[in-house]
Amino acid sequence: MENAAENRKRIFSGIQPTGNLTLGNYIGALRNFGILQSEYDCLYSIVDMHAITVRQDPAALRKACLRTMAIFLASGLDPEKNIIYFQSQVPQHAELGWILNCFTYMGELSRMTQFKDKSAKHADNINAGLFTYPVLMAADILLYMTDLVPIGADQKQHLELARDIALRFNAIYGDVFTVPEGYFPKVGARIMSLQEPTRKMSKSDPEECYIAILDEPDVIRRKFRRAVTDCEACVAFDPENRPGIANLMSIMNALTGKSMETITDEYAGKGYGAFKDAVADCVIAVLEPIQQEYKRISGDKAYLEQVMVSGRERAAQIAYRTMLKVRKKVGLAALKL
Ligand code: TYM
Repeated sequence: MENAAENRKRIFSGIQPTGNLTLGNYIGALRNFGILQSEYDCLYSIVDMHAITVRQDPAALRKACLRTMAIFLASGLDPEKNIIYFQSQVPQHAELGWILNCFTYMGELSRMTQFKDKSAKHADNINAGLFTYPVLMAADILLYMTDLVPIGADQKQHLELARDIALRFNAIYGDVFTVPEGYFPKVGARIMSLQEPTRKMSKSDPEECYIAILDEPDVIRRKFRRAVTDCEACVAFDPENRPGIANLMSIMNALTGKSMETITDEYAGKGYGAFKDAVADCVIAVLEPIQQEYKRISGDKAYLEQVMVSGRERAAQIAYRTMLKVRKKVGLAALKL
């Protein structure tokens, strides 16, 4: 795969290993990783260096990285077809990140909405890493000459910055980086919080706001029953005025393929209780097999270790080639292995 046929496009995406991966992560990103794996050369990274922009407990972070890898595998990603690895184990991410910092403006970074949100949330630790986080993300993507980046809507602004940096670098040094495109799900690019449906579902919010990929069926049912909706009690898609019910309909639509009209007809006159239970059922039907597979894989430490080592080696080969080129272009001494 590392010497992929020229016509196979390359995909890169990453997920932070912090907290519990959510249904938002699954519908917005992870599910697409699986769908795309047979058509593209894919690298899927557990972006542990991004995670340390917020203070982490070291032992918990190490565990969370392995758990995230096990979830990747349990959700159907084939480690032979895809390169699955930990970002920090390929040091070229940090190296390219530094170089790209020198091609990114303070003004651009100040406009990033995620930086504004996160610095409000972690007011006691607004570190430089939080500010330059999108540059590291650009390095992740550009390091592998990525064509396509499957992500949810909240990462769109970061992807646009990565494109701008690539174009800027190419304008100075010639055609070095592939300029990446985003790949967003048609429905479900922004799954909302179950308690505050005007905000995105986030793993850093309180438990009742999100469905975790590893939540037990009865927990999933309970969280959906308690999901905030309006008081009209008729199932209809109106995200502006009725964001709670629209969110539940989007989840059902994304997971079953049923159109909004079909869902509306099917639940006409049945009330919200029945509809919420039905949404819970279809989420459980999708997550249960992943959870069973997760239980099996997460107990097999030797297998996870093997995937980690092989992923790192394969990613490093591509990263090394890119950095030879980049170092040469910017005038740094060649670093031959
Ligand atoms: P992260 O870890 O916050 O989220 C991982 C992926 O899940 C998507 N996502 C959602 N999609 C729909 N609805 C939601 N409520 C929802 N919440 C999260 C995210 O859009 C993302 O695709 N900076 C990135 C990680 C990253 C990355 C990269 C991604 C680092 N380097 C390079 C792509 C390419 C992040 O924090 O995602």
